[in-house]
Amino acid sequence: MANEHVCPWWMIHTFDNPVRRLFHNPEAMLGPYLHADTRAADIGCGIGFFSIGMARLVGGSGRVFAMDLQEKMLAGVERRARKAGLSGRIETRKVEANDLAAPDLKGSLDLVLAFWMLHEVPDQERFLGQVKELLKPGGLFYLAEPRMHVKARDFDGSLALAGELGMRLMERPEVRLSRGAVLAA
Ligand SMILES: C[S@@+](CC[C@H](N)C(=O)[O-])C[C@H]1O[C@@H](n2cnc3c(N)ncnc32)[C@H](O)[C@@H]1O
Repeated sequence: MANEHVCPWWMIHTFDNPVRRLFHNPEAMLGPYLHADTRAADIGCGIGFFSIGMARLVGGSGRVFAMDLQEKMLAGVERRARKAGLSGRIETRKVEANDLAAPDLKGSLDLVLAFWMLHEVPDQERFLGQVKELLKPGGLFYLAEPRMHVKARDFDGSLALAGELGMRLMERPEVRLSRGAVLAA
């Protein structure tokens, strides 16, 4: 049965559209954390609003893993990457709701982004544990949740869970329309 909390593919353009860059600029937001030659994942990437900016930041020898539950979202990322000439830097991966299934990436990522997706994940503890496993020691987890759907109390609960799993809260960046945090593995 479809998970009714997951953003359906046909709804993605309501927020992933040209106007969004006025308040979410991926390169400006992630530039302080993501540098040339690094490896990153955009989990719950949708059609790649952030994956494309991340691919620009990691440069020709970096790599971005764009992961999502929905094939249609991943097809959107691939189309966009081709158009931007960035296909060589972005690898799409289909994941399951409670399984990122990426043993080959364990301990290898400099940054994981989860933007407006954690509230759609059925088992946050398992998800956050898997995020931590993907990161290098000291690697960063950038989390942003929509204010409209996620109360401060629930966001704090997610940060507390991440803390119990061994991640350290480093920063609370201002993210428009969102609650944001950067944690270190
Ligand atoms: C609201 S959209 C946000 C998309 C993108 N991060 C952005 O900011 O434009 C949430 C995305 O997370 C994906 N998603 C939901 N649960 C997921 C899970 N457990 N693992 C991976 N992706 C998931 C959905 O398929 C959807 O593409």
